[in-house]
Amino acid sequence: MKAKAVKGNWSLRTNKLSFPYVFLVCIFFFLAGFFGFTLFSHSQGDGDGLRPRQRLLDSTNEAEYNLMPVGELGDDSITSIPFQVLSWRPRAVYFPNFATAEQCESIIDVAKDGLKPSTLALRQGETEDNTKGIRTSSGVFVSASEDKTRTLDVIEEKIARATMIPRSHGEAFNILRYEVNQRYNSHYDAFNPAEYGPQKSQRMASFLLYLTDVEEGGETMFPFENGLNMDGNYGYEDCIGLKVKPRQGDGLLFYSLLTNGTIDPVSIVHLFS
Ligand SMILES: *[C@@H]1O[C@H](CO)[C@@H](O)[C@H](O)[C@H]1NC(C)=O
Repeated sequence: MKAKAVKGNWSLRTNKLSFPYVFLVCIFFFLAGFFGFTLFSHSQGDGDGLRPRQRLLDSTNEAEYNLMPVGELGDDSITSIPFQVLSWRPRAVYFPNFATAEQCESIIDVAKDGLKPSTLALRQGETEDNTKGIRTSSGVFVSASEDKTRTLDVIEEKIARATMIPRSHGEAFNILRYEVNQRYNSHYDAFNPAEYGPQKSQRMASFLLYLTDVEEGGETMFPFENGLNMDGNYGYEDCIGLKVKPRQGDGLLFYSLLTNGTIDPVSIVHLFS
């Protein structure tokens, strides 16, 4: 990992050794109303999430564009956020240099005192004991408003812009640390009601922001990309399929739901250190 000014026990360096941590921040977006089509129906009072704050974002040279007149909640400038489509099955989009190194380090700083072993949502018949080892990272939930440095506020706003999913539909950030050999075995970020019981809302998408570089490993993996490896022989710990290597400041958005609101079978995801 290459994280510059991280202090104390988190003394990650810029030289090329094998580094012990992958840090990432994850935000889930939910769809209100289970399997509904109410993506953009939100309650009153979330105007904060809609108010443009383009001064916090990179804006390109406006002289190059003929700006359109905007609605009350539109922007009077052009925002440029580069992205690369990694796959259509699952829908996965990569955002290089989504955050600066300073922003990443600031987020690590916010998280580092609160890290606790990550937990799992349990299915019927599962207990903490018989699911031990499935998810071994440590992490902490932090909402944008709890971050006094306002870094998460800026990041959340930018994610909302990039995805056009209102901030009010995001859960708190989960800031995670994966040490060597830690992982989160293959899982869906959405909750299948057949396994987890009725859900009030559903997670539609996840956005990961990598806070550190890694020398080796640390991939986020989509083993069923484009329908591959779905013949039933896939072991939930295998390292196959589309792999995304963490690079500090880069973002990854993927959708766990299809456009008709049902869980996308190929959106199963696996995180490694
Ligand atoms: C949703 O779309 C998928 C893929 O096209 C399809 O297999 C599935 O049956 C659809 N589900 C519903 C409830 O429409």
